[in-house]
Amino acid sequence: MSQESRLADSAGKMQKIISLCKRRGFIYPGSEIYGGLANSWDFGSLGSQLKKNIKDLWWQYFVVNRDDIIGIDAALMMNPKVWEASGHVDGFTDPLVECKECHQRFREDQLIEIEDKIERSIAKKLLKIDRCPNCGGKLSTARQFNLMFKTNIGPVDDQMNTVYLRPETAQGMFVNFKNILDSTRVQLPFGIAQIGKAFRNEITPGNFIFRVLEFEQMEIEYFIREQDWERIFGEWQSAMSEWLNYIGINSQNYSIREHNKDELSHYSKRTIDFEYKFPFGQKELYGLAYRTDFDLKNHEKHSGQDLKYRDPQTNETFIPHVIEPTFGVERTVLAVLCDAYGEIEGGRGQDSRQDQEVILRLDKKLAPVKVAVFPLMKKEKLIEQARAIVKKLRQDLGHLPNFVIAYDDSGSIGKRYRRQDEIGTPYCVTVDFETLEDKAVTVRDRDTMKQERVRIKELGGFLKEKFV
Ligand code: GAP
Repeated sequence: MSQESRLADSAGKMQKIISLCKRRGFIYPGSEIYGGLANSWDFGSLGSQLKKNIKDLWWQYFVVNRDDIIGIDAALMMNPKVWEASGHVDGFTDPLVECKECHQRFREDQLIEIEDKIERSIAKKLLKIDRCPNCGGKLSTARQFNLMFKTNIGPVDDQMNTVYLRPETAQGMFVNFKNILDSTRVQLPFGIAQIGKAFRNEITPGNFIFRVLEFEQMEIEYFIREQDWERIFGEWQSAMSEWLNYIGINSQNYSIREHNKDELSHYSKRTIDFEYKFPFGQKELYGLAYRTDFDLKNHEKHSGQDLKYRDPQTNETFIPHVIEPTFGVERTVLAVLCDAYGEIEGGRGQDSRQDQEVILRLDKKLAPVKVAVFPLMKKEKLIEQARAIVKKLRQDLGHLPNFVIAYDDSGSIGKRYRRQDEIGTPYCVTVDFETLEDKAVTVRDRDTMKQERVRIKELGGFLKEKFV
């Protein structure tokens, strides 16, 4: 395939995913009836369930199921001194250039990426782009632009009461370090985790939900002794790969990239990115950074509070160092959708009239709908039986977290299977005329298309087993 057709193909895949998301209620453009708002998206019924499944699984995986990590939920707005101490007031900037003709603004480093998308090898030659990619006008020289959103507490809009919407959840963990030492019996190494919103005034448009103004992060600040950092960094690199495997991301579709010295964040001594092969290019999905003792040391200095850890064995006191694994929720949703998206030429089984069937091969744990129940036809007896099965399944399986069971009786049975394949439902249960006699139903597997006859009274147990 030529490079041009590969690019067109990738752009086509992205467009198909965006339209599937809108059509089926995963993700809508934000404020759409008012013409939208750049870089803002709303999650619909299936999208919000998918996002919740990801967050709940992450919490279970990294917090509930481990002894060494505790969760918190810190306030979004923090004392502005936090952001002075963390270096964000001075250092959390992007280089901004503006077109002198059309006044469109670009991130200078993103202009390089625009070319990068075409061919990595020629990117170096194009480092100094001085013409607007939009209209060809002359670009201004770069000035630094702070990415933090500002707002005010109280009615008066002055500098005294400025607060920032947090650009990362991490600082909530650092400012609570002392509270956690005082209120729990944690010992090094240990981590503090949280999931929550972060806000960034991003200049450039963001490839669907890849780069947005408000997004959620799932972050861990893992406190360690300095001498252990290389070993524990390696352990977290493996833990992050295992998580990707756990949520069903194909290991062929991501790789690890080491940050060069000049691209390291102001706090980091070593950072690696987990980059996913999105249809628009290979880009950062997650990050893993060695933040040294930068944050605690600066908070100690700016707050005047003692933020040292006392070793219970030796009584030695010191500021721990930190390894930070960080996971974006929206980027996880996007990677999961890109990974799961498939098309089957000619359609499958029930509906041979279909030229092409779309299938989302989502990991079962992530699927927003776990089981769909259909009456074969819209006949009263079948509807009654199918509804009774939904009720019984909710009684049997309703205690499992996020176990959504759907009922559908509209359109042909083939269409209903396709609708469920398109949203990634792993199992469909069909009630037919025989069910009324033999008290059994047909269970169809999304991926193998295998159909099994299962007795209604065993259905709850049968399905439960599929999800363990
Ligand atoms: N506490 C470290 C930190 O915030 P980061 O690499 O700037 O590091 C962490 O962000 C993760 O947050 C990224 O790996 C990405 O998954 C996600 N992320 C960052 N900016 C984003 C944006 N504008 N839109 C969506 N997700 C974003």
